[in-house]
Amino acid sequence: MKPGYQKYIPFQPQKIENRTWPDRVITKAPVWCSVDLRDGNQALVDPMNLQEKLEYFHTLVDIGVKEIEIGFPSASETEYEICRELIEGGHIPDDVTIQVLVQAREHLIKKTFEAIRGAKNVILHFYNSTSTLQRKVVFHMDTDGITKIATDAADLIYEMSKPLIDQGMNLRFEYSPESFMGTEMDYAVEICQAVLEHLHATPERKVILNLPTTVENCMPNQFADMLEYFCRKIPGRDSAIISLHPHNDRGTGVATTELGLLAGADRVEATLFGNGERTGNVDMVTLAMNMWTQGIDPELDFHDINKIKEMFERCTKMPVGDRQPYAGKLVFTAFSGSHQDAINKGSQYMKDSGTEYWEIPYLPIDPADVGREYEPIIRINSQSGKGGAAYIMEHNFGFDLPKAMHPEFGSVVQHETDAVGTEITPERINQLFHQTYIDVDGPYKLLKHAFQETIDGEGHSHVAFQGTIQHTDTIFQVSGEGNGPIDAFFNAIKGEKMARFSFLDYASHAITDGSDSQGVAYILLQDQRDGKKYWGVGLSHNINLAPLRGILSAINRAKRARHHE
Ligand code: KIV
Ligand code: ZN
Repeated sequence: MKPGYQKYIPFQPQKIENRTWPDRVITKAPVWCSVDLRDGNQALVDPMNLQEKLEYFHTLVDIGVKEIEIGFPSASETEYEICRELIEGGHIPDDVTIQVLVQAREHLIKKTFEAIRGAKNVILHFYNSTSTLQRKVVFHMDTDGITKIATDAADLIYEMSKPLIDQGMNLRFEYSPESFMGTEMDYAVEICQAVLEHLHATPERKVILNLPTTVENCMPNQFADMLEYFCRKIPGRDSAIISLHPHNDRGTGVATTELGLLAGADRVEATLFGNGERTGNVDMVTLAMNMWTQGIDPELDFHDINKIKEMFERCTKMPVGDRQPYAGKLVFTAFSGSHQDAINKGSQYMKDSGTEYWEIPYLPIDPADVGREYEPIIRINSQSGKGGAAYIMEHNFGFDLPKAMHPEFGSVVQHETDAVGTEITPERINQLFHQTYIDVDGPYKLLKHAFQETIDGEGHSHVAFQGTIQHTDTIFQVSGEGNGPIDAFFNAIKGEKMARFSFLDYASHAITDGSDSQGVAYILLQDQRDGKKYWGVGLSHNINLAPLRGILSAINRAKRARHHE
């Protein structure tokens, strides 16, 4: 054997003239078929028991999947019993078709027919391997021999189906040339054409031709070329439903499916969260939600993805990864500061503009569409920028910090994240905010105060302020008048040491927490001695007191800063 990568035979692309798939777009949902209960289940370390399979089946029905492969009833007694319970237990809604898989072998086909009796809608899915490699190393057969396996099975199935169809069963057929992706395309066309003929396919009684990438072995564009070639060449294209069954060995199952749909496929076999043999089958959730984000109705309902994920993890004992598209724990988080800032701007833009469309950078989908929360999207760690902490204060705690204050509070939070080296919680951010701006009651403390407000005949307000202030051990009285509480307070402290500040900015709003409403005031002062600026925040049920507390907070912060210099 050659060493390393040289031992691999590169994929030989199918030649095709004037391919048309690159110019197409997906405009509608395919027919979906879930293979969770077969391909998915057979790939589990601990396969699902009857109860788990039933629960899973009902979830698929609730999602809106209309074709569900329930298993391989000829493979074991357990599989057979599950099939019987689904049918006899009345679990299958009238608009849902169950699909059963069987190898193209006589005794297994007969057993499968036994398993489906009494069902209303059934797809009988049979397969045999057609690839060059399998013919060479497994079957030691030429193409005629392989075709005969398929057509003998088709004849038997066609004959055995007659009485069931006469009794009213809606019985349809599906054939898979297993390992289609490793089969010469002209031979794939030949064997599928033979199967269509032996099953007497017509445009009225179409047969599903399922073309699996049993092992994904080429790039999605190469697969699309193969599929377009196949669809062009197959005689009786209108008597067939072209189905995809992509696996994910190269990690491109979703792309292969999407390009396959462009290249002419009508139907997709997939599993929730991409469970299945080896790297899994293609992920139905990702495919469907990708369509959703392009403004196409996928005709599947994933509005409560957490519930589906919980069922999936419990029944399969397989975890859904934190980065799994649409469903992973972390997919609606933004760690980067510039992303957080852009998300803030996007949601503000949506509010201000009243746009009818989802226009938020870095969030390809509205988390609410899959039942996820928008609130905890932003998490703060040392990589976060200045806007993230302000975002948390607004969205989690109702403090709408003035824009000019964001960098200062961002640095406070950054200092903490650098020190602890991990992400910090919104609660810790709130604590830092209170410690930094609100719980700063020293060296100056307002012990008592009174306001007296008069409004003159022309509606002008006049406020008189009297207060008792403590500075370390000294207590002193101040009084002053002005056209509002802030003005009156500043006039009252004129001449005091604490008055060496000029007033630069002010903002306020109410914060409502249940029935309790408080006013919050943000004050920006400038120290006249060195020009440094300090924010202060005051919180009070009294609308006049909040700004005074804000001023004292800013002054105290300035004093503490000078003290530490
Ligand atoms: O991957 C595959 O080829 C299959 C077939 C049985 C359809 O699962
Ligand atoms: Zn498969």
